Amino acid sequence: MSELLNTLSGANGGGPRGDSGDRNSSGGLTLDGSVPVVEIEGLWTKFGRTVVHQDLSLSIRQGEIMSIVGGSGTGKTVLLRQMLGLERPARGSVRIFGEDISAVDAEQLQGLRNHWGMLFQQGALYSALNVFDNIAQPMRELHTLPEDLILDAVLLKMNMVGLGPEHAGKMPSDLSGGMVKRVALARALALEPQLLFLDEPTAGLDPDLSESFVALIKSLHRELGLTVVMVTHDLDTLFALSTRIAVLAEKHVIAVGPLRELLDIQHPFIQEFFHGERGKRALEALDPPQDTAAPEH
Ligand SMILES: Nc1ncnc2c1ncn2[C@@H]1O[C@H](COP(=O)(O)OP(=O)(O)OP(=O)(O)O)[C@@H](O)[C@H]1O
Ligand SMILES: [Mg+2]
Repeated sequence: MSELLNTLSGANGGGPRGDSGDRNSSGGLTLDGSVPVVEIEGLWTKFGRTVVHQDLSLSIRQGEIMSIVGGSGTGKTVLLRQMLGLERPARGSVRIFGEDISAVDAEQLQGLRNHWGMLFQQGALYSALNVFDNIAQPMRELHTLPEDLILDAVLLKMNMVGLGPEHAGKMPSDLSGGMVKRVALARALALEPQLLFLDEPTAGLDPDLSESFVALIKSLHRELGLTVVMVTHDLDTLFALSTRIAVLAEKHVIAVGPLRELLDIQHPFIQEFFHGERGKRALEALDPPQDTAAPEH
């Protein structure tokens, strides 16, 4: 247990309710795999008369990298916002760490927030704050961490995402696209979350940067045992990272499973997405065609 987490556990007493005995002595959540990290049941999302999600269900287990794919405007970002408690279900429920996100009060919601990190589609750094202060901001919002601890933690997070301390004083406008994503990721990791949400993490990055971002997420997933929920259009990233993929179409999740299981599903979006030109190329890169097919047995 790191010093930061120990301090945090004292700080976020307003976190997920302990009355059901679901918290351990460190104040973190006990995630023994028996309760899904995310459980969405019969979700409806409406904006006025527009129905974005209709009877959508999805369950995400601890340690998964669950990717959500779907056409533009199908409601992927809105689905992440539902999981973050930033939208309210018109019907149905969204449970995070077993807690119904629309039933918790503001203090409990803040406690839950301390257990997840979010990388927004647009990076969303504070343009008036330098790299250091952007990453420190979630820690400072707790109002309980001493500055010397924040200093150590920010430098650690920068190191984790491959940013040397020499970048700490730079302003967002002076950063490359890849660096903005790294700083945003370091900020998402600031409170040592158990759950990480990523909305198009590699959009706008060149192939080399995308690859190093994928390697970074992979190693964080391995080392920290994170559960990751990711939205992406980038097939290389999708194939390299996902343990399961949820396909969003017709306002709900039409299929969920490992890549290999989805490939055979006869749905027009799935066929086009995975077996169209882009899909074929990405699949070949993953699994180069063999000259001599090996027998199954
Ligand atoms: N606050 C809002 N008010 C009204 N409509 C909204 C609001 N937020 C999102 N929508 C609508 O919900 C639908 C889903 O939007 P969303 O941003 O989730 O799409 P997406 O799947 O993330 O698309 P993209 O792949 O382009 O990022 C869109 O039709 C969008 O216009
Ligand atoms: Mg989106």
